[in-house]
Amino acid sequence: MTKKINIDWENLGFDYIKTDLRYLSYWKDGRWDDGHLTEDNTLHLGEASPCLHYGQECFEGLKAYRTKNGEIQLFRVDQNAKRFQDSCRRLLMPEIPVGSFIQACIDVVKANEAYLPPYGSGGSLYIRPIMLGIGNSIAVKPASEYLFTVFCMPVGAYFKGGMTPVNFMISDYDRAACNGTGQQKVGGNYAASLIAHDIAAKKGFADCVYLDPTTHTKIEEVGAANFFGITKDNRFITPISCSILPSITKYSLLYLAENVLGMDVSEEDVYIDELDMFSEAGACGTAAVITPIGGIEYHNRLHVFYSETEVGPVTRKLYDTLIAIQLGDIEGPEGWITKVK
Ligand code: PLP
Ligand code: COI
Repeated sequence: MTKKINIDWENLGFDYIKTDLRYLSYWKDGRWDDGHLTEDNTLHLGEASPCLHYGQECFEGLKAYRTKNGEIQLFRVDQNAKRFQDSCRRLLMPEIPVGSFIQACIDVVKANEAYLPPYGSGGSLYIRPIMLGIGNSIAVKPASEYLFTVFCMPVGAYFKGGMTPVNFMISDYDRAACNGTGQQKVGGNYAASLIAHDIAAKKGFADCVYLDPTTHTKIEEVGAANFFGITKDNRFITPISCSILPSITKYSLLYLAENVLGMDVSEEDVYIDELDMFSEAGACGTAAVITPIGGIEYHNRLHVFYSETEVGPVTRKLYDTLIAIQLGDIEGPEGWITKVK
């Protein structure tokens, strides 16, 4: 019998909610311990832990969904496991085997089943795996010990309103660089983005869009999501860049646009002064899902795509297809869904 939780499932946002159990495992002397689930949501770290001083930290984000028939499923968890390994390699941290990563996510979801939003509520259970370099060592070098933890929380829309258009502004700041860590999901990228987000939020924008750090002429991505545009001749285009996060949602949409919607798709340079080519645009990511972009402000001018209030038809179709797979209403491509229960 699953315990009952008093949560307003239909009105969840993206705020921290403590759930019952999280997974915790330590790496020491060259190996991971067996790991365990714990009720304690406070981490105990040495004051000279490299994650605190030098940012030796990476994380992931994925979701579990309740299906119509009461099952629970994860979306493309193997891709998150592989991207986590890539982030670990970049920061000289010990990798978690893909199978262990997936099992930790499954264990955490099962242990917190009561927090999984019901089918049809619009919510899901967000899973946040993290790795930290710990152990006291003050020199700039990789940590001698590591901690891997996975917690989860029920969430609704990341951008207010979910499938309602939001406006973004172009930032003068850079978030990351090629040969830096732009392609990895490491905390430092997000620390660097806080000021740009703050400026955008104070001006009334949902977030900012970054341009490429070398020429400031090409769209990179949104602070917490990738960018895509639908051209007037019905092509799905998304920026190619060595300094953006390889979004699992973006690659899923590239596949669905091509194979389900029958569109031409490509990853290519998207120049900021060529936005007129798009009839629709959106931000995509695990938290953002698909958030339609009403307009983007650049040099004090708001470029509106489809509409500031209405969702374009292709964006709508992509959203419906993606969500239907995530919720188990239709079958996804082989390997996209992992059953928890
Ligand atoms: N870009 C950034 C900077 C992100 O934080 C995220 C979120 O994970 C994404 C893109 C979207 O990636 P994904 O679709 O794998 O969640
Ligand atoms: C995600 O979509 O999983 C993210 O990590 C984006 C944001 C919450 C940082």
